Amino acid sequence: METHNVTIAIDGPASSGKSTVARRIADDLGLIYVDTGAMYRALTFEALRKNVNIKDENALLKLLENTEISLKKRNMAQSVYLNDEDVTEDIRQNNVTNTVSIVAAHPLVREEMVTRQKKLAENNGVVMDGRDIGTVVLPDSDVKIFLVASVMERAERRHKENRSKGIYSDLEQLKKDIAERDYKDSTRDTSPLKQAEDAVRIDTTKLSIEEVVEKIKSLISTKLN
Ligand code: DC
Repeated sequence: METHNVTIAIDGPASSGKSTVARRIADDLGLIYVDTGAMYRALTFEALRKNVNIKDENALLKLLENTEISLKKRNMAQSVYLNDEDVTEDIRQNNVTNTVSIVAAHPLVREEMVTRQKKLAENNGVVMDGRDIGTVVLPDSDVKIFLVASVMERAERRHKENRSKGIYSDLEQLKKDIAERDYKDSTRDTSPLKQAEDAVRIDTTKLSIEEVVEKIKSLISTKLN
């Protein structure tokens, strides 16, 4: 197997470092990076803006069917587009973060998202991150990783990131929000967050990004050889 068509699934709870690590690996190996959380966030943003009731599954599905969500590489980062509009920053707003798990819990919305995500990986090597990549979207991926970290560590990371962007946040509130999102993501009926049986679990609480990236790259190279 060659590096350019390897498929890597990275799952795990909110703020476990998935996207930073996934993006780095994709860049280093020349693979496409797909942030599936950004797709659920983009739909949530569009629904909130258009006053679509996020508890109404059929209304959300209709909105999704009329909305193109694309991920485009821009230098080292990834930009997210709703039709032709760049919404990269908008989808990280608190109102989206706090409501996206409601949108992501609808089975028909997930079905359509999974179809789109599978297509993105067709005939391409990819690093895809999310909650159900190793279990549902790409169950045959070559390497499956499940990243975890303590709630305290994840809240501190998010707090630091916010501070560096000049965004005010309250550490205690962040802890509560993260724990609540973990609960919602792992107890929903459709495709709850859970480790695939054949995934390698990495606890990143005491590891640097560099260490996590190196660990995963060494798993990939073992697999390729
Ligand atoms: O990774 P993130 O925080 O950007 O994800 C946003 C939300 O989308 C999160 O509540 C979980 C959900 N999600 C999902 O259900 N399935 C995925 N494959 C990716 C994200």
